Amino acid sequence: MAPIIEVKDYTWRYLHTTEPALKNINLQIEEGTFLGIIGPNGSGKTTLANSIDGLIPGQYHGIKKGVVNIRGKEVEDYAKGSLQRTIGMVFSDPEAQFTAMTVEDELVFGMENLGMTIPEIRERLAWVTELTGLAPLIDKPPYEISGGQKQRVALAAVLAMKPEILILDEPTSMLDPISRKQVFAVLSKMKQEQNSTIVVIEHSLENLVPLADRMALLYAGELLFEDETHHFFQRMDLLLEKDVLPPGALHFFHHLIQAGYYNGRIPLTAVDAAEKLAQIMKKSVEEAKS
Ligand SMILES: Nc1ncnc2c1ncn2[C@@H]1O[C@H](COP(=O)(O)OP(=O)(O)OP(=O)(O)O)[C@@H](O)[C@H]1O
Ligand SMILES: [Mg+2]
Repeated sequence: MAPIIEVKDYTWRYLHTTEPALKNINLQIEEGTFLGIIGPNGSGKTTLANSIDGLIPGQYHGIKKGVVNIRGKEVEDYAKGSLQRTIGMVFSDPEAQFTAMTVEDELVFGMENLGMTIPEIRERLAWVTELTGLAPLIDKPPYEISGGQKQRVALAAVLAMKPEILILDEPTSMLDPISRKQVFAVLSKMKQEQNSTIVVIEHSLENLVPLADRMALLYAGELLFEDETHHFFQRMDLLLEKDVLPPGALHFFHHLIQAGYYNGRIPLTAVDAAEKLAQIMKKSVEEAKS
């Protein structure tokens, strides 16, 4: 099956800059995949997200080489506004997205634009407010809620439209640890129940890693590597060299491997790590006895 998102030999340089922000990127994303994109500040993550959702070159000036295809059709060939039916985009700065006077209006706005009927909108509104825990805030004006609550409204407004592709650029930067976890739980549901294709750009890996099918590392405008999540973290030396800070459990197992105590797959969650550690300890106790 053709990938839902295909980036081919893609280079983008913003006008009046000397270095391309993205250099010869090749990336294919299959439908239903949850992809995590990481990389240091300025490595090109947001530029890549905007190249997929059509904001580049639409709203930015620059020089482009190569192509970005969505469902086999080049982003630039979609009629104005039509790509937004397929791709839902959540930015890290939710303020920039708000236009309505209440949270409810903000959530309803996009659905009205899609031409949904009032009963459909009501049903979807109930679903999304339940999913994101926003029901108590529904009548508030967006400027009277906290940064983290705004971020949840921005996410809910996009989820309400049930887009086939969700792109989230640091969607939890303002959230407390519990809310952050909740957002990832919502994304997990979207993947399982809607088979959404989800691309998440995120510096905090703790929640991302257990959910991501695949991970990609951008560095200085280049896609250094992209792989199935387990394989991705087997190359820990390269990741550390490129300033990626892996979740504690993964880092710990990397040290166990280096010290010769373990030679299996690096576990991706704390629970999995605890089980593997218990096995290592049990084995060494048995070895000591024999
Ligand atoms: N509108 C713009 N005009 C010119 N250069 C830009 C523009 N936006 C970004 N850049 C440059 O492109 C490069 C990549 O920026 P980008 O915002 O894509 O990085 P990022 O990986 O999203 O970083 P962060 O983690 O800080 O969000 C940087 O060198 C940045 O200075
Ligand atoms: Mg960015």
